[in-house]
Amino acid sequence: MLVGPWFHFIFKFRPNLLNFTELPTLTIMELHINSIDFSSLSLLLLLVFSAIYFLREKHEKRKSRPNLPPGSMGWPFIGETFELLKRHPSFSIGRYLQDHIHRYGKIFKSNIFGGPTIVSTDARFNRFVMQNHGRLFETSYPESVEGILGEWSVLTLTGELHKEMRSIAVKFLSNDLRTRFLPDIERHTLLIINAWKDGSFLSATEQAKKFTFHMMVKQILGLEPGQPQTEKIKKEYTTFMPGVVSMPLKLPGTPYSKALKSRSVIFSEIERMVDSLRKEMRQGEIKERNDLLCWCLTELELSKGKMFDLLLGMLFGGFETTSVALSLAFFFIGRCPRAFQELRNEHLGIARKKAERGETTLTWDDYKQMEFTECVVKETLRLGNVIKFTHRKAIEDVHYQGYDIPRDWKVLLVLSAIHLDGSIHNDPQEFNPWRWQNMSSSTVDFMAFGGGNKLCAGAELAKLELAVFLHHCVLNYRWELCKNDQPLAYPYVVFEDGLPIQVFKINNN
Ligand code: HEM
Repeated sequence: MLVGPWFHFIFKFRPNLLNFTELPTLTIMELHINSIDFSSLSLLLLLVFSAIYFLREKHEKRKSRPNLPPGSMGWPFIGETFELLKRHPSFSIGRYLQDHIHRYGKIFKSNIFGGPTIVSTDARFNRFVMQNHGRLFETSYPESVEGILGEWSVLTLTGELHKEMRSIAVKFLSNDLRTRFLPDIERHTLLIINAWKDGSFLSATEQAKKFTFHMMVKQILGLEPGQPQTEKIKKEYTTFMPGVVSMPLKLPGTPYSKALKSRSVIFSEIERMVDSLRKEMRQGEIKERNDLLCWCLTELELSKGKMFDLLLGMLFGGFETTSVALSLAFFFIGRCPRAFQELRNEHLGIARKKAERGETTLTWDDYKQMEFTECVVKETLRLGNVIKFTHRKAIEDVHYQGYDIPRDWKVLLVLSAIHLDGSIHNDPQEFNPWRWQNMSSSTVDFMAFGGGNKLCAGAELAKLELAVFLHHCVLNYRWELCKNDQPLAYPYVVFEDGLPIQVFKINNN
């Protein structure tokens, strides 16, 4: 800065410090300066020190008062939480985000869930945060999520513990997709759709929940549909979602208390199953089983708490999300006859080739041929937004594109806003599976499964479940939506009337 030359100047005018031996070499300029009297010098000194003081103050202020993104902190304590959570169709971003993006831009500050928060609807910033998980940011779910899913839940853990539990989840979910999951998915699909009668009225959400719950409870706990434990656990799970997004109030009748009660009922149920499985193992009676519970007992050395939270979290993560995605597929395909027809043609082609080869069950190669189906699944997840946002917090002061994000501030990554951003997708509110056929639709901005080292551990399983269910569904039935029952973001997606549909059997001969 300019401070260096000024010091040189001042130094020269302190007579006791002057080096007289240098006098003969002084320049004309310096001689002229020498003639300045000491009152001017004091003034100059004052100016210099004021400038230094001013610059230092500015620097300190900047350090203590970060350059936060614009925004409003709303009401004391609750901030803008209720505005953000106000329901709206899940294929829109809702009034709150619309207004705030218009007023403040894609990144803004607020107070959400009782704490200062940076809300991001910006694709690049979302990616930056996800990719820096564990370095600059970490997971920070509201208290209610940890209370219900437990302290060892993969979803809420951080650091080394997250790595440990995540690696178990990933290994279990990706190891046997072809050999174990695929046949089981097909078997459970057929159990559901073979029960449909021509012309019958059904709730699509109920059918979707039945399918994904039976799938998950088999894979995680080794239970079959109809077993008393299956029905008991299914009943308890209905309280989970409302509890997870509620205030953590332990008062009688609150959604949080109900979900905590369900958690302990499921806990006792699993404890009983563990005891009987251990007994069978001691007696050498254990039958061929490859569910997660059995794997935990035979191959892993997990404490009871870790094992229970792992099982509970996997059931929760795999059941609610995929059932919503399947309901959304019924909704969007039901409104787009062209997509239904193209989907059906693809599956008829696969079925014909299988018949020629004399095959009866789906193989991995069949799945790999479901290219248009993949586009439909992706478009359903983009437009339907099963998970609206995800939670992080800064673990150190972060500087991003001129903004400061102070340490300990929460960061809410709104995934739906990226999916519905008109600068990323043309006509973002239109159901257009064909957009995924050309690479102009940006895949990096597809965030339905999150990203970074918290990318959904069950993403491949979920896609497989959806594709196999759609295969048998479009081969054998067409459906009509009976009512304009739209998916609403609460923020978790619900169809208030259970998405009523009428199904019609298709004769393929
Ligand atoms: C369409 C269906 C699904 C959607 C949209 C979905 C979405 C997501 C998202 C967005 C995350 C990241 C959360 C975050 O960033 O904090 C996540 C994590 C996770 N999901 Fe899924 N998911 C689906 C299906 C499944 C299935 C079938 C399972 C299997 C049990 C599963 C298990 C998990 C687990 C264990 C995590 C935690 C990963 C971690 O924290 O490292 N999900 N999911």
